[in-house]
Amino acid sequence: MSVHVVILAAGEGTRMKAGRPKVLQEVAGKAMVSWVVEAAASLTPSRTMVVVGHEAEAVVSALPEGIDTVLQAEQLGTAHATRLAVAALDPAADDVIVVLPGDTPLIANATLAALVAGHGDRGATVVTTRLADPTGYGRILRTEGEVTAVVEHLDATDEQLAIDEVATAIYAFAAGPLRVALDRVESDNAQGEQYLPDVIGLMLEAGHHVGGMAVPPEEVAGVNSFDQLAEAAEVMRRRINQDWMRQGVMMVDPARTYIDAGVLLSAGAVVYPGTHIEGTSTVGAGARVGPDTHVTDSHIGEDARVRYSVLEGADVRARAQVGPYAFLRPGTVLGPESKAGTHVEIKNSTLEAGAKVPHLSYIGDATIGEEANVGAGTITCNWDGYDKHRTTIGPRARIGSDTMLVAPVEIGEEAWTGAGSVISKDVPPGSLAVERTPQREIPGYAEKRRERAESEE
Ligand code: UD1
Ligand code: MG
Repeated sequence: MSVHVVILAAGEGTRMKAGRPKVLQEVAGKAMVSWVVEAAASLTPSRTMVVVGHEAEAVVSALPEGIDTVLQAEQLGTAHATRLAVAALDPAADDVIVVLPGDTPLIANATLAALVAGHGDRGATVVTTRLADPTGYGRILRTEGEVTAVVEHLDATDEQLAIDEVATAIYAFAAGPLRVALDRVESDNAQGEQYLPDVIGLMLEAGHHVGGMAVPPEEVAGVNSFDQLAEAAEVMRRRINQDWMRQGVMMVDPARTYIDAGVLLSAGAVVYPGTHIEGTSTVGAGARVGPDTHVTDSHIGEDARVRYSVLEGADVRARAQVGPYAFLRPGTVLGPESKAGTHVEIKNSTLEAGAKVPHLSYIGDATIGEEANVGAGTITCNWDGYDKHRTTIGPRARIGSDTMLVAPVEIGEEAWTGAGSVISKDVPPGSLAVERTPQREIPGYAEKRRERAESEE
């Protein structure tokens, strides 16, 4: 006996009105279907088959390598989708088929393990739950405690609609009886679809045992709308944050802390409210991130401090300081103890150890040497209208406030630029470059103005 998994992900998700496949909507930065695929992997199945259809290519590209897919060109219903997957898997009669919908991102590994362990020699085991508002779900019908059928919301009588025990779309099946039953499923119902839950009644008719496994609603709720997606994201956020806090990360307000599934935090890090850390980002020990900071695919080193800032593809090394209100774009490397301060934008540039850009600057395509200081309002003019050019600033250089560095340009080690200069030629090491018209004074100017004004009255 071996276990095979079927994941149903061909539907469009019309109730979501999003114009993209529902199963690609993300929870904590990961597509719903990928959460389901991961949970399924915990069963170490011999094969996993994902049924794709609506925007199949996009769904396939979101799946991890090594997952098989089968195309359901027309979405004729969950039974039809399962039939295609089972045909592609071609299981032995005594194999177990676990069916999962692609819209149940919160399903826990332990629940799937319990489903398979408890399935035994039944024809079908359906995972059920009780919901305060069961609207939209298939209702579980029981006779003397035994599951006898699942009736879809749109097909249910008023009496059946009052039942609060619902079917999830999570099942374990005996492969042989499942094949036979799937061939007999019809579509004479409100939606004109072949319903997988109809297999329950067909199995009972054929003399197989059917069981229900009741679980708490939280992890098996199907996501069909954006409000359900937000609820699922909230539960996932709680799980992820609890996990990090148990590993030694301090979160000042976990309900307002948004950490993607792929992110790595270190014990001793502190995350302040309003902070989103996404993609492949990492945060080192003792680093403090936030409040109100958005970090994507970036690394924040040990004891670094990042406040009220946006980081995309940036590498912030140990004890560096960022913000408030900095924007670090892809290719930014902030060396140890360097600083990108208030209202500073940096792109594709390296600040070596201890280099500082404290206020109001744009730094693009530049290298700034160790311990160099870049004065307020400095701009690297990296774009000549056709091409990008580099600016190189040597170690311990002092760039005066409001310097325009017209690239390509190189400022030598310990060189200086005067405030307000437009620097378009290289500055040798140790030199001062000043580019300004000489200052003029007009004595008595205020007095002259006043006299002119009075004579015009
Ligand atoms: C389904 C169940 C319902 C259960 C609910 C739990 C059926 C008929 N109904 O309803 O009993 O209470 O889940 O969340 O099974 N899909 C395909 N091909 C199709 C149709 C659907 O792959 O032809 C996929 C969808 O992409 C989705 C999953 O199957 O991932 C479930 O479909 P969905 O439309 O969400 O079914 P529900 O109406 O939620
Ligand atoms: Mg659903």
